[in-house]
Amino acid sequence: MCGIVGYIGNKKAGPILINGLLRLEYRGYDSAGIATIENDNIKVMKNKGRVNNLYELDGINNLVGTIGIAHTRWATHGKPSKENSHPHMDNSNSFAVVHNGIIENYHELKTFLIEKGYKFVSSTDTEVIPNLIHYYFSQDKLNDDKKVLRAVKNTCNSLKGSYAIEILSKYNKDKMIVTRKDNPLVIGKGNGENYISSDIPAILSYTKDFYLLDDNEIVELSRDDVKFYNKELRSIKKQVKSIEWGALSAEKDGYDDFMLKEIYEQPKAIRETVGAKLDNGHIEIDGLEITKEYLESINKIYIVACGTAMHAGVATKSIFERLCKIPVEVDIASEFRYRNPLIDEKTLTIYVSQSGETADTIAALKLAKLKGAKTLAISNVIGSSITREADYSIYTHAGPEIAVASTKAYTSQVVLLNILGMYFAEKLERVDRDIINKLKEDIFKLPTQVEEILKDTNRIHKFAKKVYKEKDMFFLGRGTDYAVSMEGSLKLKEISYIHSESYASGELKHGPIALIENGVTVIAIMTNSELVEKSISNVEEVITRGAKVFVITSEEIDNDEISEIIKIPKTNTFLSPILSVIPMQLFAYYISKEKGLDVDKPRNLAKSVTVE
Ligand code: M6R
Repeated sequence: MCGIVGYIGNKKAGPILINGLLRLEYRGYDSAGIATIENDNIKVMKNKGRVNNLYELDGINNLVGTIGIAHTRWATHGKPSKENSHPHMDNSNSFAVVHNGIIENYHELKTFLIEKGYKFVSSTDTEVIPNLIHYYFSQDKLNDDKKVLRAVKNTCNSLKGSYAIEILSKYNKDKMIVTRKDNPLVIGKGNGENYISSDIPAILSYTKDFYLLDDNEIVELSRDDVKFYNKELRSIKKQVKSIEWGALSAEKDGYDDFMLKEIYEQPKAIRETVGAKLDNGHIEIDGLEITKEYLESINKIYIVACGTAMHAGVATKSIFERLCKIPVEVDIASEFRYRNPLIDEKTLTIYVSQSGETADTIAALKLAKLKGAKTLAISNVIGSSITREADYSIYTHAGPEIAVASTKAYTSQVVLLNILGMYFAEKLERVDRDIINKLKEDIFKLPTQVEEILKDTNRIHKFAKKVYKEKDMFFLGRGTDYAVSMEGSLKLKEISYIHSESYASGELKHGPIALIENGVTVIAIMTNSELVEKSISNVEEVITRGAKVFVITSEEIDNDEISEIIKIPKTNTFLSPILSVIPMQLFAYYISKEKGLDVDKPRNLAKSVTVE
């Protein structure tokens, strides 16, 4: 996690760095800092807490350096404090480093450096990096213009773990060095200036031209040049990629919070995801060259992901099973990678990740690849790490998602997985074409149906006001509604800090019903006409025990004992998670607002989980 930014050009670096950090705050927000070069010296300013706390520091507005690095932290080693915040310096104050990732062998390296006489002031793993650079620099007897680069290369060879690093050196005052391994880093190419960032949206207002770094590449930036090297310091060439997202999509655009803006962007995100793959009812998926013969050889599909992205897998498992007749397992990436799953060349593994940078999901993909399985990544970020590892990569078109709580990425993932299921089903010809054609018609209606739900949110808000002080809530559903209940429960936990559990409605009587007592809130999702009667019976069981029930349904339900019924439009069962999740997202959002919490940046969380 953590966000890093860098600038080299002719403008004052300070405001550009802080502006970039504010946009990267979703990646971590327990301390922040910047380093620039002024009067031949490296000047570091850092503070505990949010990026805005940097403005409390004397002189922060008077920095004149035109080259600088910056960091916003999500603590892994060492509690959030000024000492532990980045940038970290070496003992001679010659090198400043910001780092995103984890150095797994830092104990060993620290012991080595202490034996050589180095002293440490923080409890971080990062502090070994500037000192190791200094160590290698001082050992090098050659005094040429690649001396700092060599010190960085030797340091990287000694590091185990994951990192994206920016380095300022007082021996090379007009240059900056960056490198990465298993953590994101992009370079924005400007005119007489260059930018660095953990993600593209943070610097989109400055440039649309980017270099995407691969693992172990080392880059030396000056104002007018960007030089790329491989890990042996041999020169390599890289192509610039132009990015289409407008800078405005990374702004709040009049909304109070990014989360609310992103909830309201869902019709557009769905429209664009559908439009990019379904042209006049014909499915065309760029980047996917899968043959009927290959699909016929598959004996199992795994959908692997974390958090909300994993819920998108749970919500779409049945389309692959029912239309393709292939068994599907959905797995949590951090479990999958350590349980020695049964996979071989007949297994298709699908990885879902909004950011494309989630460490566990990437590791799960690498494992399946080693075992000979085909790997298909679904991501929202072009050129993200996961898409560079996978055999095939396909994209949701949700635009940048900034709020930590995922909303438009989830609905776009569910849409895309459904399209993928239909694409496979068309090739396999194991079910009647009419079923697929009907589904296509229903997919085209989704954006308007989401708009309809978003038009009137008063009743959801009213119910949120009624229950926001509660300590526990329960979410129930059957089939795809159960998948949405899992997502509704996660949304509530992460942004409102209310404990909640989700259960398959039929499972309630096997234990959890013991927790239902007078006044407890239960949220029930019922969109499947074949299962609605059974679900109503489950709701009556909890009402009998005193629960307040909030129902989200596309069915006609007439029951005075239900506290609130939110009616949503009717769609195919495979697609219902895209509609029924919207009231869940708004419910969590309104509760968080009622409690006065920071909706976009909930405590302890970060948007992109690049550590295990
Ligand atoms: O970027 P990814 O889709 O791989 O992220 C996976 C999860 O970390 C993410 O969905 C997380 O659960 C969200 N905060 C949920 O809102």
